Amino acid sequence: MATASAPGKIILFGEHAVVYGRPALAVPVTQVHADVEVADSPRAGIWIHAPDIALHAELASLPPDHALGAAVRSVFAALGVSPFPPLEIRITSTIPVASGLGSGAAVTVAILRALSSMIHSPLSNGEINSLAYEIEKLHHGTPSGIDNTVVAYARPVYFVRGQPIEPFKVGAPFTLVIADTGISAPTKESVGDVRKLWEADKPKWEKVFDQIGEISEAARTAIERGKTDELGPLMDSNHALLQTLTVSSPELDHLTEIARKSGADGAKLSGGGRGGNLIALVEKYNAAHIAESLLSAGAKRTIITEIA
Ligand code: MEV
Repeated sequence: MATASAPGKIILFGEHAVVYGRPALAVPVTQVHADVEVADSPRAGIWIHAPDIALHAELASLPPDHALGAAVRSVFAALGVSPFPPLEIRITSTIPVASGLGSGAAVTVAILRALSSMIHSPLSNGEINSLAYEIEKLHHGTPSGIDNTVVAYARPVYFVRGQPIEPFKVGAPFTLVIADTGISAPTKESVGDVRKLWEADKPKWEKVFDQIGEISEAARTAIERGKTDELGPLMDSNHALLQTLTVSSPELDHLTEIARKSGADGAKLSGGGRGGNLIALVEKYNAAHIAESLLSAGAKRTIITEIA
């Protein structure tokens, strides 16, 4: 038997612009995770059980673009395993789907890791990352690769599409409240809509992407130097630019405003937007109070996390 776990993630700065080559910062969120257990099977075939989505199916019955099936097949293809051994694969996850917390990437990474160790050929983080990127394309269409990267390496990353990953240092720890609007919003749709905007007026949106990229750079410098007081205004500016990109929503705007009014130093949506999660930068002593205010204002759940 083999097991593997992969964390959720949040984008601190730079979502959407990262698809267009600008830098972004992301960190793992270990309070939520995807878990995969692989065991030998007494019956023929590879059986995939994902009770959270009521899936119990034989691999051969899943279409080629089914992300779970594709993840399983990609391990065997990468390792040249044929015929497939009979296996039972059980997938569970505490990461809400379509919420900006990287649930698709985490499930994929956990499958790749558990399956490759089950067949005694554990893949490196780099190999896992490359395979997971291919599966992300099934989830997202045109992913930048940031989600699979931060989840595969499970550490903070400064990410520029197509370039080697750069982990970044956190000069002084800071606390975030992550709050879920409860609205599930597939990243594929918001990424697709941003592409339509960009295609209709590239010079206009390139400028917005440049501004977001500058915010990510400034945030990286502030985080590395431990100047966390600079992060709040950067978050607010990043959120405003995401609003112009039409990827915020009334709920995200309302909850980011509630977070600021309750004492957060800054707040922004995180991930694809239109729903899903927001992040608020808070003082540690005030985190529980701000989380409570967000829940009273309609957030469906909150996570308090320290980035260290
Ligand atoms: C999703 O977590 C982040 C986006 O920038 C999409 C991507 O980078 O692939 C919205």
